[in-house]
Amino acid sequence: MKTIIEPFRIKMVEPIKLTSREQRESLIQKAHYNPFLLRAEDVIIDLLTDSGTSAMSADAWGALMRGDESYAGARSWYRFRDTVKDIFGFEQVIPTHQGRAAEHILFGVMVKPGSVIPNNTHFDTTRANIEFVGGRPVDLPCVEADDLDSDYPFKGNMDVAALEKLIDAEGAENIPVVMITITNNSGGGQPVSMANIREVSRISHNAGIPFYIDACRFAENAHFIKRREPGFGDTPVIDIAREIFSYADGCTMSAKKDAFSNIGGFLCTNDAALAHQERNILILTEGFPTYGGLAGRDLEAIAIGLREILDEHYLDYRLLSTRYVVNHLRDAGIPVMSPAGGHAVYLDARRFLPHIDPLQYPGQALAVELYLEAGIRAVEIGTVMFGLDPHTGDETPARLDLLRLAIPRRVYTQSHMDYVLESISAVWNRRDDVPGMKIVKAPQYLRHFTAHFERL
Ligand code: F0G
Repeated sequence: MKTIIEPFRIKMVEPIKLTSREQRESLIQKAHYNPFLLRAEDVIIDLLTDSGTSAMSADAWGALMRGDESYAGARSWYRFRDTVKDIFGFEQVIPTHQGRAAEHILFGVMVKPGSVIPNNTHFDTTRANIEFVGGRPVDLPCVEADDLDSDYPFKGNMDVAALEKLIDAEGAENIPVVMITITNNSGGGQPVSMANIREVSRISHNAGIPFYIDACRFAENAHFIKRREPGFGDTPVIDIAREIFSYADGCTMSAKKDAFSNIGGFLCTNDAALAHQERNILILTEGFPTYGGLAGRDLEAIAIGLREILDEHYLDYRLLSTRYVVNHLRDAGIPVMSPAGGHAVYLDARRFLPHIDPLQYPGQALAVELYLEAGIRAVEIGTVMFGLDPHTGDETPARLDLLRLAIPRRVYTQSHMDYVLESISAVWNRRDDVPGMKIVKAPQYLRHFTAHFERL
């Protein structure tokens, strides 16, 4: 069949409040032209993030009632730990309230001032957590990632030659960990191939450096490997995931993505001594090692979500429905990152709005315009997010200026997406009139969250 159906039916609904263009003009102005500062109820289609916004299943909701809220050694903890071990394969599992808490603990233990941490592309929280302890995050995306139009299947790959050069230049002793993010969120949600993961692992281990995976969207990445990488077509996705993690020494994970959970995360390692140090911080900042920052019911929901996310009918629907949006945009000549990633659609704001200089934030300008047009909320992934060095205060254009429309899991239907397509086309047709932006107030770290803007 050509029609992609959602492999679930809807049992409970949340109303969407519809607003007029006139209302939205006033709402976005009051939010200082920053969609993060809007009230969610004033958004019609919320594509700000796929994080924590998934619809849980009836099974997961049922499991909430089973949550064992004992302080120590709860049944829910063992269910969670055993599921994580079964899929990810690491010996030590440390529960945290979300992904960035895992990053904070990991980098707090491993990174010293002056350390260099390579990644295919660091996500904003990863980057900020490294900078916060005085380390230097370095992005090493593969060269194929520069061509936003090509159909290269694994644009999330790390540039392995650049990694070898960096290790030579900086010295392995100054690189406490090599990371790879699957899928590469800041690099357009593009997947990393098994071959690349294997190679990055080999190079890191040859240099004596631990190799970690930022695993937020591991199931989508595994399914891309199944569908795109020769030799994996008949391998169950769970086994692809297990192979991915077999090459790593540990991982950080946000259960708010590929575990369908509204909150949660974890940190894994095979190094018992390191885990001991990590639990010392965990107990100060998150909680006892058998719950971390989570309630027993959250641990239950995550254990179920980690199984559900590996359902291949779900993953087919997920990847095909994102591709549906990307292909329609491509056919209309609208600049969008290709091929389609899993969790989001990335408009190329720099090419969408070529009259806006990167330091006047084309991604932010497009975000504002899409809200005005149709009440759609999306997030800039570009110079606002990555252009500022928090220590020197220097601002330079980011590698790309993208507008990310992240698709919450199992939340919106095809007609919602058709509405999104229609709205993007409407903005495209009047793109020459879209003004640039300037920042009038911003914090030192993660400035995109709370910056205030004006339109030029
Ligand atoms: N790593 C990646 C690749 C992420 O995308 C995120 C979060 C994190 C780490 C941090 O996880 O939010 O649980 O603390 N990304 C969200 C997003 C916020 O919108 O892409 P967290």
